[in-house]
Amino acid sequence: MSMRALDSPAGRVPKIGHARPCQHRAGPVSPELDALFQAARTVRERAHAPYSRFRVGAALRDETGAVHAGCNVENAAYPVGTCAEGGAISAMVAAGGRRIREILVLAEGDGPVTPCGACRQRIREFADPATPIHAADPRRVLASFTLEQLLPASFGPETLAGDA
Ligand code: THU
Repeated sequence: MSMRALDSPAGRVPKIGHARPCQHRAGPVSPELDALFQAARTVRERAHAPYSRFRVGAALRDETGAVHAGCNVENAAYPVGTCAEGGAISAMVAAGGRRIREILVLAEGDGPVTPCGACRQRIREFADPATPIHAADPRRVLASFTLEQLLPASFGPETLAGDA
């Protein structure tokens, strides 16, 4: 954990964690990251997003090296729609994967599109604080973060162990 809120002197306003500026990317990416980029770009084409028209693809690499991908699937009953990251995670779990080593989200946005809050928590279940989360558009990887940067001081499986 990077912030020191609980041990701050009484009365002092605790410092809330500020994510370090993201690492903006330029130039070529590794073959492993390129595989995620290609998988996310392909699956995004299959998104079912007739309501928002905002298509998202996500691809992750698990602990065996296998790549799993998902896209957003919207519904006429709007809240029932699901995010691309959730689809990729479901595919991983269904295939027997248990850890996210790296994940990439791809969409056409005004700047890098990062996972929504709920999806940050979904990723948290299967990832480590240092796990890379990349944001891409259909042309290139735009920015890279760690899970800790996007979801600081998070709640996770280990938290529950404290009351076991
Ligand atoms: N969406 C995702 O698939 N992932 C995110 O992290 C952010 C949002 C989808 C949900 C919805 O279908 C559309 O993008 C617009 O919010």
